[in-house]
Amino acid sequence: MGSRQVNILGIETSCDETAAAVVADGRVVKSSVVASQTDLHEKYGGVVPEIASRAHIEKIYPVLAEALNAAKVTRNDIDAVAVANQPGLTIALVVGVTAAKALSFAWEKPLIAVNHLHAHLQSAMLADSACGELELPAVALIVSGGHTCLYQCRSPLELRLLGSTNDDAAGEAFDKVAAILSLPYPGGPSIEKVAATGNPRAVEFPRSMLGPDSLDFSFSGIKTAVLYYCRGQDMKGEDRVGSMSQQEIADIAASFQAAVVEVLVKKTRRAVRKTRARTVLLGGGVAANTALRQAMERMCQSSTPPIRLLVAAKRYCTDNAVMVASLAYYKYKAGLFADLSLEAKATG
Ligand code: KG4
Ligand code: ZN
Repeated sequence: MGSRQVNILGIETSCDETAAAVVADGRVVKSSVVASQTDLHEKYGGVVPEIASRAHIEKIYPVLAEALNAAKVTRNDIDAVAVANQPGLTIALVVGVTAAKALSFAWEKPLIAVNHLHAHLQSAMLADSACGELELPAVALIVSGGHTCLYQCRSPLELRLLGSTNDDAAGEAFDKVAAILSLPYPGGPSIEKVAATGNPRAVEFPRSMLGPDSLDFSFSGIKTAVLYYCRGQDMKGEDRVGSMSQQEIADIAASFQAAVVEVLVKKTRRAVRKTRARTVLLGGGVAANTALRQAMERMCQSSTPPIRLLVAAKRYCTDNAVMVASLAYYKYKAGLFADLSLEAKATG
């Protein structure tokens, strides 16, 4: 008798996406449903936790039902229920955690808790078409709206944090600079679009490397530099953005993007050298950025010997539940289960 696939139902509600997915054996995506709340937060220029939480409560049931339907499975086919319980907005996370606990209890299936950031890294692992022939240890760069982290990754479950941001996350910097430039929310995709017609060498924005050995990041300086550039050093000058030409805005966006990308790639190279890694994994919302993907590819190709780069597919860069169900598979195999005392945690 052949062994049956392990089907895991994953749930993700850490920020402003309500997502559920069914993934078999950690790799075969049977369904992936993501209900985005971008339109609800747009007018505030950022995610409002109370609005996010309420929207998750409204969406969680239909999203779960759709994920099961689309995967053509019923509760009987599900082997475990997994949920991202940290880090994120506590009142958003708690919606997914409560739903996962309820299903685990009612269906009598094991409950698995995963770290949202580690799950982002798993999205990059999914890009490994050779399936398990990945050379580890790898260096993983996770760049999202809330986090900028470098990890050493020995296996999907063995991650060591090498560095993280001291202030703003990379995605947060994209979002804030987009707001300064009056570009639509969310900022990352807007900056990328506008930057395509800009000159990345037009403005020399600072590259904060934090000393020769640091693997930490700081992006608040560059955000302030863009603000000063637009409003004058003393911030007393008028906001020039309204009177700037489209080309000027494009040049600022391209120069900002180039500075952030350069820092992310150089720090990743540092981490690769320090840990003698053979593979780089790239995930998180900002990993959807084409300039970053290309610059990272160039760095990996030009290393001697070349480094293998695995980048999450664009649809799995931003928050989704496939990454949650996929990572949960390794916990399932290792027997690492949670129980009904599981709580949502802001940090992690
Ligand atoms: O991973 P994610 O969906 O949510 C968090 O866990 O934070 O990442 C969202 C972040 C936002 O800051 C968004 O502006 C950024 O990812 N982002 C991008 C791009 N697409 C999304 N940043 C740069 N370029 C993009 N194409
Ligand atoms: Zn995320």
